Order: sequence, then C-alpha cells, then structure tokens
Amino acid sequence: MRFIIFVGASNTLAESEIETQVKGATVLYPNVFLFVSSDVETAQALAGKLGCSIKLAKESVGVAPVAQSIADLITLKNFSITCLDNLGDSAKFDQEVKEVRGKGRFLESKDIFGLTPILIKKHKIDEFFIDRNRDEVWQTVWVHDYEHWIKKDRHMPYANAKAGILPPKIARSMVNLVPLDPAGKLLVDPFCGSGRVLVEAAELGYEIAGSDILVNQVHESKINLNSLGFQAKMEVLDATHLSDRFHDVDAIVTEPFLGKPHLRPDQIQYLVPGLQKLYLGCLKDWLKVLKPGGYIVMVFPSFDDGKHVYKTSNIVDGKLELGYNQLKRGILYSRPDADVRREIVILQKK
Ligand SMILES: C[S@@+](CC[C@H](N)C(=O)[O-])C[C@H]1O[C@@H](n2cnc3c(N)ncnc32)[C@H](O)[C@@H]1O
Repeated sequence: MRFIIFVGASNTLAESEIETQVKGATVLYPNVFLFVSSDVETAQALAGKLGCSIKLAKESVGVAPVAQSIADLITLKNFSITCLDNLGDSAKFDQEVKEVRGKGRFLESKDIFGLTPILIKKHKIDEFFIDRNRDEVWQTVWVHDYEHWIKKDRHMPYANAKAGILPPKIARSMVNLVPLDPAGKLLVDPFCGSGRVLVEAAELGYEIAGSDILVNQVHESKINLNSLGFQAKMEVLDATHLSDRFHDVDAIVTEPFLGKPHLRPDQIQYLVPGLQKLYLGCLKDWLKVLKPGGYIVMVFPSFDDGKHVYKTSNIVDGKLELGYNQLKRGILYSRPDADVRREIVILQKK
C-alpha cells in the first residue's frame, strides 16, 4: 500500500528524520513524502513515531481524481478535498463533488496540508487529496496527537518556554536520527536541562539516563520524566566527565550549552573558543562512554557577528576523526526568532 506523509516544517531535520526512519521514502512535493507500507496500522505506527509528521494519507487505489469517483467514497457527513496539483482551486472541486452527491458539507482547506489536525480530530470528516497530474487520490488515515505534543511543550511540571528549551517535536526528530531499534538500548543526554530529549527517547522505547552540571536541572528532568511515568538514572555531572559514571552507552543525543542568550556581536568571538573547548572535551571523553559503533547526535551552534560566521562544528575535523566517523553534518534547525543557528551533527564511534 502507498501512503503520503505530510511534515510540519520545511527543514533539513525533517528530511533527515524521514530518511533514517522511513525506508525508501521519496519527496513527492515540498513537505510531502511518499512511502510504501504493508498495512494501515504499520504506516500509522511509523507516522506516530516521528517528530516531523503531521498527517498521513493512504492511496485510494483505482479511484480517479474526478468528482463522481470521490463522491462515491464519502461515508461521513463532512468532507474536504485538497488539490496537491496546481490545476485549480480545491474549493471549486469541493463544490463539484457536493453537487454530484447532493448532500453533505464540505470544509475548505487553506493550503496543500488540507484541514488542521484539530478539525479532523474534533469532527467526523472524510478528507481527500487529489493529484490530477499523477491521476491519484489519497485519503487521510491519521493525524498527529497535537494534544500530547502541546502537553509536553507547555504543561509539564517544568516547562519554561523562555529558558531556551528544545521543542518536543525537534527533540523527537533528533532522537530519530539514531539509526537503532530502541528496545534494550541505552540513550544518554549529558546536558539534559529539563529532560526534553530523554522524554522523547523514553516514549520511543529507549532505556534512558541523563546528567547536567546543575542540581536543579537534574531535579527538573526527574520530575518531568516521572510526570509521564518514566524513570531514569540521573547524575549531577560535568559533561566532559561523563565517563566517571556511564559506560556501554548505545547513543548520546544532546543539545549542549550554547552560550548565554542575547549576546552582543562583539562578545561572540570570545564565546566561540570556550564552547569549542567544552565540546572537544566532551567528544574526547565520550569515546570512553560509547560502545563501539555507538552514535552521537549533537547540536552545534553557529553565530554571525556581521563580519564572520563562527561554526562550532568545525571541531569534529582533525584529531577526532581518529575516533569517530562523521555520518552527517549540516542538518539545520533554528527557531525563526533565534540569534543562534543550530547545526545537528551525527557521529559514530569507530
Ligand atoms: C541548552 S540546555 C539543554 C536544554 C535541554 N535540551 C532541554 O530541552 O531542556 C544546556 C544545559 O547544559 C547544562 N550545562 C552547561 N554546562 C555544562 C557542562 N559543562 N556539563 C553538563 N551540563 C552543562 C546547563 O545547565 C543546561 O541545562
């Protein structure tokens, strides 16, 4: 069976997550990926695992993208049709289908993503996507659990949007860059903050552990994890000394200390060497922590002072190449309002 998956943000993180987790997926349109799965339940479970996924639609095999054929598929009171092609507006097509059916109510979509997941979950709606260029019809079979994502983003015991916390969907996508089956694997975040990465890893089925240099951050992580029913070994520790407490780790996924927020441009050149020293110290120590073949997924900030772009990820070149294979660099993610750009790098211990 063929499916299309709609991803939330057009960034290289979503692309990399799909590439790692959805075997054989191809880009159909910007933010829309095509893949094959044996059945609907397997495809839904896969979509539910991803951080980037918003909506999943299944191909209506043998159905032509014409009003009569789609009218025959509608079983619910409400329906919506979105044109993936650029051959005319969706509302006009909705109207045609309504005329053929002679009943029902259509809901107009605003863009290529169709209706919002909130609408789809709250009302009984048959939603279709048509593609007249490719002669295809798709029907929505899953939307993301926005309530759970909002809960993790805003309603955890310790959730403070101002503290530079990683959005849960981004944390989930980062964990999914580790190409492992989570069952029985240990994943550690040595800069755990309030535990966003650990929550996502635990939900995916990893065994988790974490540390932070600050006692209160370790406490916040513990409480956040417990509020969702998860337990973890947590330590107060400098990340450059992770090997004092942790060994045989399968994966390290982390957003490290990125420097103090709201720096003046003239402070950047002094900050960068300090951060690079910290990251280098970590990556050297973590060679003692990881199993051979173990993975690191890590955020490296870059800064622009108007004269230079300072990329802290440069430290993975040079001596570290003896210990790690560089699997991927240049996976970019940053918030629209951020003054720090984030580059995610994937390394594998040799
Ligand atoms: C960017 S935050 C991580 C945020 C986390 N991803 C979250 O969403 O909550 C960086 C964390 O690194 C911690 N930190 C700073 N320097 C450290 C060091 N040398 N070793 C370990 N943790 C450190 C800070 O206390 C902070 O909690």
